[in-house]
Amino acid sequence: MRVTVIGSGYVGLVTGACLSDLGFKVVCLDKDEEKIRALQDGEVPIYEPGLKELLSRNRADGRIRFTSDACEAVEHGDILFIAVGTPPAEDGSADLGHVLSVAATIGRHLKGFKLVVNKSTVPVGTADKVRAAIAHELVHRGMSSDLFDVVSNPEFLKEGAAIDDFMRPDRIVVGVNEGLHHVRSRRMMGDLYASFNRHHARTVWMDVRSAELTKYAANAMLAARISFMNEMANLADELGADVDHIRRGIGADSRIGHSFLYAGCGYGGSCFPKDTQALVNTAKAHGHSMAVVSATEMVNERQKTILVDRLVQRMGSDLTGRKIAIWGLAFKPNTDDMREAPSRVVIRQLLMRGAHVCAFDPVARSHALDALRCDLSQEPHLMERFELAASDMQALEGADALMVLTEWKNFHNPDFEAMKALMRKPFILDGRNLYNPEALSELGVAYQGVGRRNDLAQLMDFDLQTRVPVAAEFMNA
Ligand SMILES: NC(=O)c1ccc[n+]([C@@H]2O[C@H](COP(=O)([O-])OP(=O)(O)OC[C@H]3O[C@@H](n4cnc5c(N)ncnc54)[C@H](O)[C@@H]3O)[C@@H](O)[C@H]2O)c1
Repeated sequence: MRVTVIGSGYVGLVTGACLSDLGFKVVCLDKDEEKIRALQDGEVPIYEPGLKELLSRNRADGRIRFTSDACEAVEHGDILFIAVGTPPAEDGSADLGHVLSVAATIGRHLKGFKLVVNKSTVPVGTADKVRAAIAHELVHRGMSSDLFDVVSNPEFLKEGAAIDDFMRPDRIVVGVNEGLHHVRSRRMMGDLYASFNRHHARTVWMDVRSAELTKYAANAMLAARISFMNEMANLADELGADVDHIRRGIGADSRIGHSFLYAGCGYGGSCFPKDTQALVNTAKAHGHSMAVVSATEMVNERQKTILVDRLVQRMGSDLTGRKIAIWGLAFKPNTDDMREAPSRVVIRQLLMRGAHVCAFDPVARSHALDALRCDLSQEPHLMERFELAASDMQALEGADALMVLTEWKNFHNPDFEAMKALMRKPFILDGRNLYNPEALSELGVAYQGVGRRNDLAQLMDFDLQTRVPVAAEFMNA
């Protein structure tokens, strides 16, 4: 069986690389010719640990190649994966433009039977639309519209650990509908993923609509856990409790588990924000509201500004003349992905308040600059007060505060004494709760985590009726 992957981004490249490593002959197609040229030259346009090595090994062995020729790509695969983006449209629904354009392309080039596998995250009913778009082209060419089947195989990989997730999946969801080709389609999908089912069955078979919805349900559930913990953290801050104790206390309950219980400065990325929005939108289109999912989104948007709010509590709203260091720009560690990264919201707010921002990320550099320039396209002058540092320590020189926004491993155990010496004021706003508040307090470093019973929360006495902080002398310290 030969495989074609259409769309060579985070999901497409990982899918192609992993399947080629399992011995399949893979062709990856992308409409971005520059990206394809780079891949043909052995470059990898995204940062994903292990991907470069996997691609270069399988390229050298002739199991994977890259093309921007749609005809050649459709001809190659018995299985055609659709792995293109489904960005949010203006109303929050998933924009299916790329998916349906790929479907039309397939219909224009298809000659014999192909199994079309939708790996992009798409709303329920999209497989029907893909089917109709392919059939339309076939009929237009005077061919039978029965030459293909469409199945759903949503992807659950996590950027930063994508290869491992693909190669050692918790489960593989495959949606196949009853119909003319369902026996063949099921057998082909079974063969494709046989390596992952040898030890025990990991494939969860279902109908197409359920498979499409499963992906949204998974992301909404994970996002909800994060927003729930962020709300708990904000309350813990006011009550003088430590959310990290709460996390351990509830995570030990086997009904709850430890994953996705970390409070912080909000989630980002290419999936949770757009998928929760799309789910709310789908529900709305069918006359339903998704109260939990809507609240999850709202809490997350608010959470992205929590560190700026804390900084303003301490320094006042005008940050002119202040230098703020940022550690971490990517939406999470081990990726250069800046889509919906909280750093984008934080940096824009700091710049708008007059601060000078000096940021360091081990990997997200050119992507970060592109994203920030795009965000500030209406206020390009603000970029004059933004700079990228060459190292984490360089970012701290003369800084009035450090904000930690991404939990890269390199940031876990920094030399706090050296940091103190470099900063104008040793003040850390820890958006990922990496550090020990007590230890920092002993070192004389002011610390503000998210829900960590930190010194700012302790020193501030809140009027619980009005929620007005009354420790004014501390605010301007
Ligand atoms: N990134 C993730 O962590 C992740 C995880 C699970 C699921 N998903 C889903 O997978 C899908 C792809 O996500 P991604 O992050 O890989 O996107 P991406 O933006 O990184 O890659 C998409 C690629 O598709 C290409 N493309 C667009 N239209 C095309 C066309 N007509 N023909 C050929 N190529 C075309 C683009 O040039 C781009 O290279 C999305 O639906 C996403 O929600 C993403």
